[in-house]
Amino acid sequence: MTEGSNERLNQQLFLKQVPDGIAGPDDFEVREAEVPAPGEGQVLVESHYFGLDAALRLIVRDSDEFLFRVKPGDLVRGTAAGKVIESNHPDYQVGDYVLASSGVQSYSVCEGAELEPCDVSQAPLEDWLGGFGVSGLTAYFAIFDECKPQPGQTVLVNGAAGAVGNMAGQFCKLAGARVIGLTGSNEKCDWLVNELGFDVAINYRDEDWYEQLEKAAPDRLDVIFDNVGGDILNASLKLIGMRGVVLLCGSTSQYVADEMRGPDNYIWLGTMRARMQGFVVFDYADQYAAARKRMSTWIADGSIKLPNYYHEGGVEAFPLAFQELYEGRNLGKMLLKLPAAD
Ligand SMILES: NC(=O)c1ccc[n+]([C@@H]2O[C@H](COP(=O)([O-])OP(=O)(O)OC[C@H]3O[C@@H](n4cnc5c(N)ncnc54)[C@H](OP(=O)(O)O)[C@@H]3O)[C@@H](O)[C@H]2O)c1
Repeated sequence: MTEGSNERLNQQLFLKQVPDGIAGPDDFEVREAEVPAPGEGQVLVESHYFGLDAALRLIVRDSDEFLFRVKPGDLVRGTAAGKVIESNHPDYQVGDYVLASSGVQSYSVCEGAELEPCDVSQAPLEDWLGGFGVSGLTAYFAIFDECKPQPGQTVLVNGAAGAVGNMAGQFCKLAGARVIGLTGSNEKCDWLVNELGFDVAINYRDEDWYEQLEKAAPDRLDVIFDNVGGDILNASLKLIGMRGVVLLCGSTSQYVADEMRGPDNYIWLGTMRARMQGFVVFDYADQYAAARKRMSTWIADGSIKLPNYYHEGGVEAFPLAFQELYEGRNLGKMLLKLPAAD
């Protein structure tokens, strides 16, 4: 069965060079190819949205140390939320909405194993890349299964206005904790407090941000949910509380650094009998459906919001959207919305 048109070209994004600093348009190139035809057992997906993930900056480094490396000349890794427009697979029909993890391109031929169905009656398609997708699930399992904040405890979320951080803060509020967010602008601080219910938000670009944090957490921090690493994590560690948890969700500042640095202030973990813990959401893959079911009820009763920040354009707009992610433009999930989504 077929829908859509094959006379259109497939725009594909390739890495041109290993980026120096924040990755941007000069580091990528777009090539055009014919829209491929699906073979036996395959489907053709039309991309509607891409999620922009900070971790892309990690995997385009000149290093084989990290999984999923993308080298110059490779198609850029990425997951599209899109629509099946041709299907030779018994489980997928034309018109189905799916996540397709087949790289940054406007059309892709996928095997069944590369697809995840999206029930858009549960959440709009784009949210399957953001708050209802890996970003929200990361926050969900990291908070409820690892950090487990208790009512009245104080949680610091670093990178609080991003895709994972804003959801982590909202889940901590549901758990009854007091939430402090650190982010990079006053506009984002206002948004975290007034729109998402954070108790306090601090702009880490203020010279006295650490003093503001000390004042906001007079009894120290029970949980540090860290998305950024570097100087912010290092300074935060001095305020970890007795038997506190430091959850290492991500290290956005280090992905772009020439030389990655660990925190000097780890000594506070010993003094405070605290623990620092790694976390990877994929360990919870068999529980995603149950988490989404629970999240659906919170979305329906208004307990949580799934904020998105849209950059519109074709595949060629992906590099600029990625640069803007690192410049901190996004409130919530940074998404590239392709013309096919309209
Ligand atoms: N462990 C897991 O399973 C898992 C899963 C998904 C994502 N992650 C990680 O979680 C982290 C957050 O991901 P996300 O998708 O939510 O990204 P994001 O927070 O939506 O976007 C990145 C944000 O980081 C901030 N930022 C950029 N450069 C920075 C720097 N040098 N220092 C401090 N902040 C900087 C910017 O906001 P400001 O304006 O606040 O600076 C920007 O908006 C990433 O490190 C990602 O790799 C981990």
